[in-house]
Amino acid sequence: MIYLKKAELQDRKKVYDWLYHSDFSPELNKMQGYPPDRPPGFDEFKEDYEDFYFEDFSPEKGRAYLIVLKKDGTKENIGFISYTAIHLKKGMAEIDIWLKSLKYTGKGYGTVAVKLLSHKLFNEGLHTLIIRPCLKNTRAIRSYKKSGFQEEPFIPENYFKTEYMDDTEGDCGPGGDLFLVKKAINFRH
Ligand SMILES: CC(C)(COP(=O)(O)OP(=O)(O)OC[C@H]1O[C@@H](n2cnc3c(N)ncnc32)[C@H](O)[C@@H]1OP(=O)(O)O)[C@@H](O)C(=O)NCCC(=O)NCCS
Repeated sequence: MIYLKKAELQDRKKVYDWLYHSDFSPELNKMQGYPPDRPPGFDEFKEDYEDFYFEDFSPEKGRAYLIVLKKDGTKENIGFISYTAIHLKKGMAEIDIWLKSLKYTGKGYGTVAVKLLSHKLFNEGLHTLIIRPCLKNTRAIRSYKKSGFQEEPFIPENYFKTEYMDDTEGDCGPGGDLFLVKKAINFRH
C-alpha cells in the first residue's frame, strides 16, 4: 500500500540525493541537460525547494510529501512528490515526482502517488493539474497517462500568471518536454 506523508525540512537533503545521486540520475540529468559529473548542488536545490514546501505556512504556494510504501508490516519512504502553485493561475498546480531508486520504479508506486496527490488537491478545490516530463522520459509519461493526465497543447497564457510569462520553460530545455494536464472535471472520487 502506498500513502503520502508531509515531508519535513530534515528530509530535504535526502530527497535531493534521491533526485540527483541515485541510479536513475545519470539518465535523468542528461535529459535535463546537466553535465553527468556536475548535477545541481544542494544549495541550488534549496532555491527551488524552499522551506515552505517542508512546512505548513504556505500551502497556497506548494507542499512536499514523502511517498511511503507499507508492506509486510514495515513502512519505507520510497520517493518524493510535490505540487507548486506560485507561477500558475488560481486553481492550478504543477506536480513533480521521483522515486528513490530504479528498484522501486515500474511497480505502479509512482502512478498511485500521483493519483493520491491529485485526489487530495481536487478535493481541496483545485481544478487543473499540470506535469511536464521530458519527451525522452517514456517511463514517466506512461505513468502520468495512467494517472489520468492527457496531452494538451502548451498555451502558456492559459496557465501562467502574467508576471511569470517570461519564464515558462520546463526542466528539459526548449521543446524538450511534454505538456500533460489533468482536470477535476474528469475526476472520479
Ligand atoms: C516517473 C516515476 C515517478 C513513475 O513511477 P513508476 O512507479 O515507475 O510508474 P509505474 O510503474 O506506474 O509506470 C511506469 C510505466 O513505464 C513502464 N516502464 C518501466 N520502465 C521503463 C523504461 N525503462 N522505459 C519505458 N517504460 C518503462 C512500465 O512498464 C509502466 O508501464 P505499464 O504499467 O504500462 O507497464 C518513476 O519511474 C521515477 O521516479 N523515475 C525516475 C525519476 C523520474 O523520471 N521522475 C520524473 C521526472 S518528470
